[in-house]
Amino acid sequence: MRKFGYQVGRWDLARYRERSPQDTFTALDREWSLLPDVWPGNAIATRLFTSWLPYKEADTFLEVGCGTGVTAVTAALQGCSRVCALDISPAAVENSRLNAVRHGVSERITILRSDLFSELGSSNGFDLIYWNSPFAEAPTDHLYESQLDYAVFDADYAMHQRYFAEAHRYMTDGARLFLGFSDTLGNSARLMDLATTAGFTGSVYQREVFSLPISVPGVETSGGDTDVDYTLYEFREA
Ligand SMILES: C[S@@+](CC[C@H](N)C(=O)[O-])C[C@H]1O[C@@H](n2cnc3c(N)ncnc32)[C@H](O)[C@@H]1O
Repeated sequence: MRKFGYQVGRWDLARYRERSPQDTFTALDREWSLLPDVWPGNAIATRLFTSWLPYKEADTFLEVGCGTGVTAVTAALQGCSRVCALDISPAAVENSRLNAVRHGVSERITILRSDLFSELGSSNGFDLIYWNSPFAEAPTDHLYESQLDYAVFDADYAMHQRYFAEAHRYMTDGARLFLGFSDTLGNSARLMDLATTAGFTGSVYQREVFSLPISVPGVETSGGDTDVDYTLYEFREA
């Protein structure tokens, strides 16, 4: 396991919990509702990945782990005719519903509480499937303390393993599978192994690196800011 992302994730969540609660935020030139215990959709990763995805090349879009619904709503606003958004967190499902209504696309988005693809009927195929994943690899015995923990940690990368193994049956012919990730904070070697084992080849679709003021107690970060990448990977069936 790569410990750095886990330590940063714990530090980041603790800081987030200390902030005064907000019920709205602005991202991608729109205002969005935010419920307690939902990953805020104005995070750098959400904004970048949402602006990079090639919605125009897809008719149908499936988002796993929709959080506040920023990406799923954007896909509908950008013209995808059928959008489905899933999240394991009931608060995220409710939050995405609020934002679909707020931006007038609720008729084109189906939003379900689902553990990855578990609640999708097998007849559902999508041209573009995406997850901004909880890329901090956590130890097998990691205790999930709240719904928000599911936005950050994946114990033993069990959910990443299932994402690849289960995605095939929801892909139309020629469909594209995407994953929003960070090589700095996640374990990309493990990620690629899981993808290969499930029959996918992966490549970087787009990446950007930021210098961030990370200061995790007990972890050397050479005194200054730390370079952190946000990388959107694309996977094709091999
Ligand atoms: C990093 S957050 C991204 C949220 C949102 N898509 C965004 O970009 O702001 C990851 C999301 O995945 C969800 N998630 C984690 N494990 C899941 C699972 N097994 N099934 C469905 N959703 C899951 C979390 O609840 C969280 O909303």
